[in-house]
Amino acid sequence: MARLDVEIGNLKLKNPVLTASGTFGYGEEFADLIDLNRLGGFIVKGTTLNPREGNPYPRMAETPSGMLNAVGLQNKGVDYFIDNIYPRIKDIDSKIIVNVSGASTGDYVEVCEKLATLSAIEAVEINISCPNVKQGGMAFGTSCDGAASITKAVRKAYPKTLIVKLSPNVTDIASIACAVENEGADSVSLINTLMGMAIDAERQRPRLSTITGGLSGPAVKPVALRMVWQVAHAVKIPVIGLGGITNGTDAIEFMLAGARAVQIGTANFIDPTVTMKVIDEIDNYCQRHGVNDINEIVGII
Ligand SMILES: Cc1cc2nc3c(=O)[nH]c(=O)nc-3n(C[C@H](O)[C@H](O)[C@H](O)COP(=O)(O)O)c2cc1C
Repeated sequence: MARLDVEIGNLKLKNPVLTASGTFGYGEEFADLIDLNRLGGFIVKGTTLNPREGNPYPRMAETPSGMLNAVGLQNKGVDYFIDNIYPRIKDIDSKIIVNVSGASTGDYVEVCEKLATLSAIEAVEINISCPNVKQGGMAFGTSCDGAASITKAVRKAYPKTLIVKLSPNVTDIASIACAVENEGADSVSLINTLMGMAIDAERQRPRLSTITGGLSGPAVKPVALRMVWQVAHAVKIPVIGLGGITNGTDAIEFMLAGARAVQIGTANFIDPTVTMKVIDEIDNYCQRHGVNDINEIVGII
């Protein structure tokens, strides 16, 4: 077997395969289907300071080679996570990363401070695609200043591995990646969903209650690959790539483009065992190509 272990900041993953936030629940929902201990890590649902109901239905729509969602960060809040979910998942032999969202800088800081006290959570991934209420609803992650200021505030409050998840709905994603690197992020992950829309022509209505939503799945893969390649050339910190990965070859493509690790999202809905197959296929690729250590191929392109 090839060496598949990779490092993201101080986080040591046994292999580069993670699951993407919002597509894998809290991991435990998949325990009867896959061996969670085999995963490099899993990123749990977007977690906020206070409970959130999410958006009204319908909030998912299938599209060619992908899907649109407007779930709206439905979750029971960080305290519920700490008291009820964490005790059930903390002993899984894989890295658990919590995805954090908020409407203000203070929200992010408070959630990350609370999570820092949990010994089995060695990293957070902050989702900066959320609306910044103070800046009139514009997402933090769509300007260098917004992305930098939230990273700076969380960095001060959170001593463990800090991953910043970037929005693709920007003109120049590399400059945003540089801005968060300069403020002390240990890693960037990309991409979050691309803004999209679907219309039901017969009923003359949008398919989502929110009209627009986030596009994910194989349809976004070429855009995600391009962005990972651009960002990997712009920053020194490790890049985590995602967007439309459905098999081992897709994962290898992201690593060749510069990703040190990958996340699998929408593909979990189609085949809940996909992560296990991707790990095996990465290993098989390494054997076929005489790769002894997966890190050798990162960023070859
Ligand atoms: C139903 C659904 C819910 C999601 N929820 C979150 C979330 O809470 N936080 C987040 O950062 N990304 C969230 N995402 C985005 C995914 O983590 C991922 O960035 C995106 O779907 C692209 O990867 P994929 O094509 O492999 O799904 C969600 C995606 C889907 C489809």
